[in-house]
Amino acid sequence: MPQAAEYQKRRQAFMQSMNSQGVAIFPAASEVIRSRDTHFPFRQDSDFFYLTGINEPDAVLVLMPDTETPEVLFVLPRDAHAEVWHGRRLGCDKAQEISGVSHCYSLDTLDVQLPDFLNGSEHLYFAFDQFPKFEADLREHLRNLRSAPKRTKTAPAHWHDSRPHVHQQRLIKSEAEIALMQQAADISVTAHKRAMQSVQPGVFEYQIDALLSHEFMHQGGSGPAYGSIVGGGENACILHYTANTDVLKDGDLLLIDAGCEYQGYAADITRTFPVNGKFSRAQRAIYELVLAAQEAAFALIKPGSSLPKAQDAAVKVLTEGLLHLGILKGSVQQHLDEQSCRRFFIHGLGHWLGLDVHDVGTYQTDGIPIKLQPGMVLTIEPGLYFAPDDDSVPEQYRGMGIRIEDDLLVTKDGYCNLTAGVPKSVEGIEALMASGHRDRATTRPQRNEDSQRASR
Ligand code: GLY
Ligand code: MN
Ligand code: MN
Repeated sequence: MPQAAEYQKRRQAFMQSMNSQGVAIFPAASEVIRSRDTHFPFRQDSDFFYLTGINEPDAVLVLMPDTETPEVLFVLPRDAHAEVWHGRRLGCDKAQEISGVSHCYSLDTLDVQLPDFLNGSEHLYFAFDQFPKFEADLREHLRNLRSAPKRTKTAPAHWHDSRPHVHQQRLIKSEAEIALMQQAADISVTAHKRAMQSVQPGVFEYQIDALLSHEFMHQGGSGPAYGSIVGGGENACILHYTANTDVLKDGDLLLIDAGCEYQGYAADITRTFPVNGKFSRAQRAIYELVLAAQEAAFALIKPGSSLPKAQDAAVKVLTEGLLHLGILKGSVQQHLDEQSCRRFFIHGLGHWLGLDVHDVGTYQTDGIPIKLQPGMVLTIEPGLYFAPDDDSVPEQYRGMGIRIEDDLLVTKDGYCNLTAGVPKSVEGIEALMASGHRDRATTRPQRNEDSQRASR
C-alpha cells in the first residue's frame, strides 16, 4: 500500500490544476444492494481510492487549496453497535494516518460544513452524474447558498468535471503502484498455470472459474478484477462470455480471460489452449498467427510509440497470415487498405490497465494518439474469432476463438511484460499441461457429470 506521502503528492498534483478560489469534492463509493438486505462486496471508487487510500463507503474528500484547511476528509463515525453488526470502521485517526489528510471529521458533520466550504468559492470540481444521490444533496446546498437572504452567500459559478485531470494522473503509475500491479500479475500468472494443469475433457467451465477465484483469494487478492471468462469451443467467440456453464470437450480449445484484483489493482491475462493438452494442426496454425501478431505489437511498445502503431503491426501480421492460410484471398495491400482482418479481429488491440481493468486516461488528444511514456501500463491482446456458421471460412477453423493477452509496463527502454510467466508457445503450453496430467489426482478438479447446474 502506498505511504500517506504519496497520496498527499497525488492530491497536491490535482490541486495545482485547479483555478484559484476552487473547491473539489470527491465522494467515496456507497454500498450497493445485491438483494433485499444483502450487499455486493464493497468496491471503493477508484478516483477516491487513488487520492486517499481509504477503503470505506460514504467518505468524502474536499480539496480547497486557497484556504487554511486545503484538505478535509469526512469518514463514517466510530459506532460500537454498527461495528459489531457490519465490521470495523477506521475513524478519523486511522483515516488521517492512511491518507495523510490533515483535517478529518465525522460524516455526521458534512451537511453543516459543506455549505461553508462552498460559500464564496468560484470554481467547483466534481464528477457530475456519477454520484446521483450525493449530487442531489450538493445541488440543494448550492441552491440554498444562491437563495440566501440579501445575497449574503454565494455559490461557485463555474463548474468543472474533476475526472479528466485525475485520470491523466492515474495514467502514469508510480513505483508503489507498479509493485502492486506486479503482485496482481504474479497471482494471476499462478492461477492461469494452475488452470492449464487442471483442464481435461469433462471438466466444467465453472470448475476452472472456481479454481481461478480460489487462487486469487488464497494469495491475498480480493478476487477477480472482472468476471472471469472461461469459454470452451465456440463460447470463446463470445467476447464477454461469463456464464461459464458448459462442459469442456475433447478436441476443443479453451479461452481463459481472468485476472486478480490486488489492493485495488487489476491484472488482465488471456490464454487459449487445447482442452486435451495437444493443439491440432488447424488450432496451432491460428494460435501461432495470433502469437506472432502479439509479438509484432510488443516490438512497438516503447516511449514515443503509440497503441495504434502497435495495432497496425498486429493487423499486418494477421492479414498476411490469413492470406497464407487461405482465409482471405487477394493481395496484402488490398486487405490492409480494407482492414479485412477486422472481420475476425473484432476488438481493439489493448487498453490502459490500473485500478480499473479498462483503466482511465485518454487515448488521443485532438485526434492524435497518446504517445507511450514510461510508467504507463497497458494490455496487448490480439485475437481471431471465426463464427461457427461463417461459410466463407475453411471448415477446420470455424467456431474457433483465440486471444492472447499480456500486461505491459512501458519502461524507458521499451517494456516489461508483467505477465510473462504464463507459457505462450505451443511447446510451453503442451509441456505445462502434460505436467498437470502426471499429477492429476491432486491438482485437477474432479470430473463430475452430475455437477452441471441448469442455472447458477
Ligand atoms: N478482460 C477484459 C479485457 O480483456 O479487456
Ligand atoms: Mn484486456
Ligand atoms: Mn482480458
